Parts: sequence; C-alpha cells; structure tokens
Amino acid sequence: MAEGGFVSQGGAKSYGGNMTVFVLITCVVAATGGLIFGYDIGISGEFISMIDSVPLYLSEMAPAKLRGGLNMGFQLAITIGILAANLVNYGTAQIKGSYGWRISLALAAVPAIIMTVGAIFLPDTPNSLIERNQPEKAKNMLRKIRGTDSIEEEYKNLVEASEASKKVTHPWKNILQKKYRPQLVMSIAIPFFQQLTGINVIMFYAPVLFKTIGFADDASLMSAVISGFVNTIATVVSIVTVDRYGRRILFLEGGVQMFISQMIIGVMIGKVFGVSGTGSLTKGQADVVVFLICTYVAAFAWSWGPLGWLVPSEIFPLEIRSAGQSINVSVNLLFTFVIAQVFLTLLCHLKFGLFFFFAGWVLIMTIFIYIFLPETKNVPIEEMHLVWKKHWFWGKNLPNEADPSLQLSEPKITA
Ligand code: BGC
Repeated sequence: MAEGGFVSQGGAKSYGGNMTVFVLITCVVAATGGLIFGYDIGISGEFISMIDSVPLYLSEMAPAKLRGGLNMGFQLAITIGILAANLVNYGTAQIKGSYGWRISLALAAVPAIIMTVGAIFLPDTPNSLIERNQPEKAKNMLRKIRGTDSIEEEYKNLVEASEASKKVTHPWKNILQKKYRPQLVMSIAIPFFQQLTGINVIMFYAPVLFKTIGFADDASLMSAVISGFVNTIATVVSIVTVDRYGRRILFLEGGVQMFISQMIIGVMIGKVFGVSGTGSLTKGQADVVVFLICTYVAAFAWSWGPLGWLVPSEIFPLEIRSAGQSINVSVNLLFTFVIAQVFLTLLCHLKFGLFFFFAGWVLIMTIFIYIFLPETKNVPIEEMHLVWKKHWFWGKNLPNEADPSLQLSEPKITA
C-alpha cells in the first residue's frame, strides 16, 4: 500500500528556465497577503484577506521545481502576522487603562497598507494573460519570470490548458464530474482536516489555555509568543525541504509528531487535573507542557499549515481551478469558525480529553494522506491530472475517457 500512494516524479517534465529575481520579488509581494491573515488570527481570531487568490497566484508564477517553497511564502507571512500580533498583544497588555486592545486592532492597518501598495505593482500571471487573450504579453511575462527565451514548450502547454478550460462553461457543475472526483475530495478534506488538527485552539486561545493550566497573565502571553516563534521558524523548515523531499513525507511526519505531542499533553493534564479540573502543575511539568505545545506547533508548521494551502493550489486543472480554490477556502474558514465557536464548550465538557479528541482526528488524517494523496512535488500544474491516473486508488476509479481537450503533450512521469 505504501508504494501505491506514491507516484515517482523523478522523470517529470521540466521546462526551461530557472528561478529569477523577478519571480522572487513578485512572490514575496504576493505572499504579504498572508500577513494580514496571520495578524487577524493573532489579534481577534477573525479573518479578512485575499486567501482565495494568493496561493493560486504563487503556484501559477513559480517554476514547478520550486513551486512548493515559493507557495509557502504565503504561510510564512501568516505565521509572521500571528507572531507580530502576539508580540503586540504582549506589549499592549502592559499599558494601563483600557486602550491597549484598540492599539492591537488598529495596527492591522500596517499589513493592510503593505498588501495594498504591493498589489499595485504585481504583474499578471502568464495563465491570466492567456485567458484574457494577450498572447504576446503572456510570452513576454513567461520569458521574464523564467529568465530564458526557451519558453515555447511551457507556453504551448499553458495555451492548451487554457483552451481546454474555455470549453468548460460551468466550473461549479464540472467539478462534480467523476473525472474531477479526486480534486473535489481533496478540496474538501484537506482544509477540513487542517482545522481539525486543533491548531487554532493554540493560535486563538494559547494565553487562555496557558492560564487555565495555572500560568500567570504575563507568562501566558509570553508562552504564546514562544509558540509563535516556533511556528515561524518551523515553516522555514518546510520551505527548504518541500521541493526536495516532497509533500507526503512532511504530511506523514508532521501527523505522527502532532499525534504524539497531543497524547502526552492529554495524559499529563489528565493526571494533574483529572475530571474535576483542580490541581496545579509543578514548574517542571509546566515547562514540559510548553515544550510539547511547541513540538506540536512545529509539526503543524512544517506539514498541514503550509501544505493545507499548497496542495489544493496545485492540484486543480485550470477549468475547475477557481471553483476548487473557492471550496478549499470556504471549507477552511467555515471550520476555523466552528472550532473557534465550540472550543470553550468542548474544553468544559471534554477537559483533558480535548487533546485526545484532536489527536484522534490527526490519526485519521494521517492515514488518509498515506492512502489517498499522491506525491505532487516537481509536477507541472498542467500535467497534474496524470498523477491521479497513476495512483493505485484514484486511477482505478477515474473514467477512462479520451477527451482530446485534456490530452497534453507526452507526459514523462514514471510510475
Ligand atoms: C491555517 C490557520 C492557522 C495558521 C497557523 C494556517 O495555515 O489556515 O487557520 O491559524 O496556519 O499558522
């Protein structure tokens, strides 16, 4: 079964060109969309952002072999936003009187300004120019972002993909077709599972959680700052490894590490506080809890955090891309909202069992990835449909239609 989930990308087609400074700058600017998302999470647990378009923009701009790392700039910006909010909260909590929270809220204007100014300078992606019938501009942009003149093959594939997508007039009806079943399942399952890791219990409520288990006000805010730092640093680990070792290994390792951390925290809190909720942690035990929360956050930050945005942004063919990404974002935000609403009630009812609850979900999602998600590293987006065809499960269940509009140039993916 293990090998069944993998599709070797060793021979995947690689187009000419490389990483250019231009792509790096555009991706950094586009990724700042995540700053406000993150700042919002850290300050209020609410969202206003451009999360629908940023991950897609990054994936369309990046060369296939660096797509993972560049796309994760978005998640890195989210984590920096959260960390900034944690630091601001820590600082404003020291202010006497009741206007500290106003400063925290008002400072959301900073990432908003960065993002707005950046957006003015962002160029269109080649895909978008082709879609809007501007072939020469699209070619020039492709030359510019790949840093080479030999872009013909990639350009041809982009045009073919665009032609195929134009024949599709109802992306919402289309995504329900059997041939898009794997993408549809992933567009729902990945964001759903990402939220069921329980990460936002930590991101929204870390200070409350730390206070509940006996930390003083200051120590609670400081612990949130520490886990915020770990979140950012661990995201960098994912950025530098994802295009080399792939998505699956990060998902699987992250899942196991989150599961172990949550189980140990559950057992420790259960032993000390029991179901009555009374008791107190020794200094040593409190340190261990903070350490385990950090190992949990680190695992999320190099697995489900960035991959929860990367994988959906790279698996949809152009003809269903906007519908697929909209489902992904909606499911993500819906369950972010649900978890934020039910957390305190769950904590009151389940007590330490809350950690086992999320650990159970992490186990399920890790098995799900192991069985159903093929490796997508280094595969050009226009050829991604072949990855499902080669998968032991999806391949058997996809209709074997010879749709000429979906026939791209000879794939070089080896099974
Ligand atoms: C998730 C957010 C979460 C953040 C933590 C993102 O990928 O979508 O819900 O708060 O990671 O870093």
